[in-house]
Amino acid sequence: MKFDVVTVFPDLVEQVTSVGVVGRARERGLVDLAVHDLRDFTTDRHRTVDDAPYGGGPGMVLKVEPFLRAVDHVRQRRGEPGAVILMSPQGETFTHEAAVRMSRLDHVVLLCGRYQGVDERVRVQVATGELSIGDYVLSGGELAAAVVIDAVSRQMPGVVGNAESVATDSFVRRMLDCPTYTRPAQLAGHAVPEVLVSGDHGEIRRWRKREAVKRTFRRRPDLLRRARLDDEERECLRELQAGGTRESAPPAVADDASQESAPRNAAKRSAAAQGHGAGDEPKRRVSEAFRGAGRSEA
Ligand code: ADE
Repeated sequence: MKFDVVTVFPDLVEQVTSVGVVGRARERGLVDLAVHDLRDFTTDRHRTVDDAPYGGGPGMVLKVEPFLRAVDHVRQRRGEPGAVILMSPQGETFTHEAAVRMSRLDHVVLLCGRYQGVDERVRVQVATGELSIGDYVLSGGELAAAVVIDAVSRQMPGVVGNAESVATDSFVRRMLDCPTYTRPAQLAGHAVPEVLVSGDHGEIRRWRKREAVKRTFRRRPDLLRRARLDDEERECLRELQAGGTRESAPPAVADDASQESAPRNAAKRSAAAQGHGAGDEPKRRVSEAFRGAGRSEA
């Protein structure tokens, strides 16, 4: 599959896409990625890519002509692309389904925005679509383009060594993954679930399914509406639903204390200290316990 990325920071895109799974896919010729410096498509001696916004306001806006010339260049040198996507927080949200759809195209061009914005005519005259990787603003589209290239490349045959690992990825079936462990079996009082060391592969398979359903039910119940569940998983979900109201997992990053009532925060801190995140598995901070164990041994 061919990707062309148009950016003012070509080195940034080159660097993140030359390591790991995508880097190997490029080396093996499974992914043919060409990165283009937007400044190479300017005509003035300062290689100007941006200008002040009409109507005033802060910041600079990326100009339309360099993008037009860059995409023309790609068309002439690399052929007609199946899609020309502008990376922008205003775009449609990128999902697993979008990655699968994009992986069926032979050639995709990704245009990276920067600064305060991009001239609207890039959207209208150059791009065929617009994608956002989430509801937050990055300093530019480069990392977002790298995210898209990574997720799409994983869907292409041969890119990930173990095809089964792609087939069982979270979101393929709209489910979160079950917990996974590796050695040691014991860590500062935290043991790996016994079933995983039992050698009973039927039980291990059932445990994994149950844990994946439980985790999805607790953390991302929205996914379950469209999840493809088998009989065993449906049964597990029914049990969870019958077990009472769903509690949500605590936020990964807690709210600022000033935005919450003191008693609620205190309760949350106390729950965290005791190792109980609301609604999820009891959590003791393994890292802390581990550090403690290390010190006592020293
Ligand atoms: N550029 C800046 N923020 C972005 C986002 N969230 N997704 C895609 N491109 C972006």
